[in-house]
Amino acid sequence: MFAAALRLSLILAIALSWSMSAPPAMAQDTVQLSAVEKTGGKPLMEALAARHSERSFKEDALTDKQLSEILWAAYGVNREDGKRVIPTSRGRNELAVYAVLKTGVYLYDPAQNALTLALAGDHTAKYAKSPLTVLYAAPDNTTGGFHAGSAYQGVGLYCASEGLANVVKSTGADELKGQLTLPDGFQVLVVQSIGQPGWPAGSAGPASRKSLPLPVSDARRKQTAFPAGFFASRPWNPVPRPGRTGPERSAKCNHSRGWTRAACV
Ligand SMILES: Cc1cc2nc3c(=O)[nH]c(=O)nc-3n(C[C@H](O)[C@H](O)[C@H](O)COP(=O)(O)O)c2cc1C
Repeated sequence: MFAAALRLSLILAIALSWSMSAPPAMAQDTVQLSAVEKTGGKPLMEALAARHSERSFKEDALTDKQLSEILWAAYGVNREDGKRVIPTSRGRNELAVYAVLKTGVYLYDPAQNALTLALAGDHTAKYAKSPLTVLYAAPDNTTGGFHAGSAYQGVGLYCASEGLANVVKSTGADELKGQLTLPDGFQVLVVQSIGQPGWPAGSAGPASRKSLPLPVSDARRKQTAFPAGFFASRPWNPVPRPGRTGPERSAKCNHSRGWTRAACV
């Protein structure tokens, strides 16, 4: 009798201690983000000078402060009247920003500075295996693209200021198609993966990818209206080649504001 009671209390004690130490089985439905400090960071010109894409990330989670500030930089409220850090066409705020975290995919609510669970499960591996990927969803029209672009540039500058790696990708935009319920007429246009850099700063890590061949239309545009290198990421060399200067060249090559037509270089 005594032995049975002892066994029962032992089982209860073990169950109780397990329930206290076990991680929550379910992701929280709502997460209040930490208050955003609107001071500090690199001066704007330094952040602009440092902005770049990086495609390799450490798995370490970002801090609550970084998560909150990234989402605020994307789409947060920056004025008393509820308006946002980015401009939107007619002020209609036609953009939805989602955070893909290990605990689930969350919709960012700028007014409440909070996240609401939109899709359960860890979907981070579908993207760049970074601890955070931000999804920008909007109607697939011109202004939708503008709004997403304004938001990811703000985040890119925040990352430059914080020394975080980030890359914007249009590939991967459809990864959660059919799973994530978006506002009517919205689709994910572009995604941005963010995390601590996977390579030490200044190392020869894969910080940038090679330029892709230009689509035909861009290549033609380059030939007819723009200087060599205008659309490519490699620097354009403005120094004319020997033997191709002087009046003969000028007559053939239609110089304009110091730019030289592709046919001339
Ligand atoms: C709208 C958009 C879509 C992009 N899509 C991809 C992509 O699908 N895959 C990728 O590796 N990089 C993608 N990039 C990143 C560009 O390749 C990168 O910005 C470009 O190489 C210039 O490098 P930088 O950002 O370091 O200046 C995209 C960038 C933008 C703005």
